Amino acid sequence: MAHVSASVYSSHVPAIGVAIDQGRTEEPYYAPLFAGYQPARDWIAKNTPDVVVLVFNDHANAFGLEMIPTFALGMSAAYEPADEGWGARPVPTVKGHPALSAHIAHSVIRDDFDLTLVNDVPVDHGCTVPLSIMFGQPEQWPCAVIPLFVNVVQYPVPSGKRCLELGKSIRRAVESFDEDLDVQIWGTGGMSHQLQGERAGLINQPWDNAFLDRMIDDPEGQAAVDHVEYVREAGSEGIELVMWLVARGAMADLAGGPAPAEVHRLYHVPASNTAVGQLVLEDAAHSRNA
Ligand code: DHB
Ligand code: FE
Repeated sequence: MAHVSASVYSSHVPAIGVAIDQGRTEEPYYAPLFAGYQPARDWIAKNTPDVVVLVFNDHANAFGLEMIPTFALGMSAAYEPADEGWGARPVPTVKGHPALSAHIAHSVIRDDFDLTLVNDVPVDHGCTVPLSIMFGQPEQWPCAVIPLFVNVVQYPVPSGKRCLELGKSIRRAVESFDEDLDVQIWGTGGMSHQLQGERAGLINQPWDNAFLDRMIDDPEGQAAVDHVEYVREAGSEGIELVMWLVARGAMADLAGGPAPAEVHRLYHVPASNTAVGQLVLEDAAHSRNA
């Protein structure tokens, strides 16, 4: 059977993707950030999964105001990088896993989550920047990727509790897929940032670090936090952090198993005008390093 081996959590700041694409990661501004990423890159080189379920939000590139799915699952064999106004990023096409997508759709919808299913959709920086952060600049991404889009752009947005419960349901789906696949689930977005208005540039380091603590030790407690607190404390775009709870919900401890092992934790300020976080949590039962 398939299994969830680890969860990865990552900001998806577009400027970080540009720094990678333009070979600027060694510049003084970026060098400390990329040094901070190195342990996660070393870890994934040894722990490359078969499939990543990559939870992110589209930033009005795939979905506009015509359609606002709360949760949308990619069903395709391939997803092209979106043109976000400057041409598509020079990164590989994201290759999907249609059989696992179909199984997750079936299992999660039968588990009472009303997923939207999308068959033809581009993926923006929310998806491609975390891939670049983890894998650098390969010819092809080294694993299949199933994009899961969460609406955190247009209100109303889903609650943290709903996101955590969806992650639990995705775990049940993966663990009932009749093929021996190593599956990771990634939650992206955040950390504190506000891109517009009077509070543009807002960064809240104490709140972000408390969030990282609770992602490790108290995900159920964090899931009870209302969206208003995210926006007040972490800025209008800080609400992206609820997506991390989807990934956290898929870990074994929330299904009665052991707590995950903290493999890596990073907090860096700033990148662009955003706080950056990264976390790698490994399932104790499936650790290849154990
Ligand atoms: C920016 C955009 C994002 O989607 C994000 O999550 C962080 C930063 C930006 O435009 O700087
Ligand atoms: Fe974003």
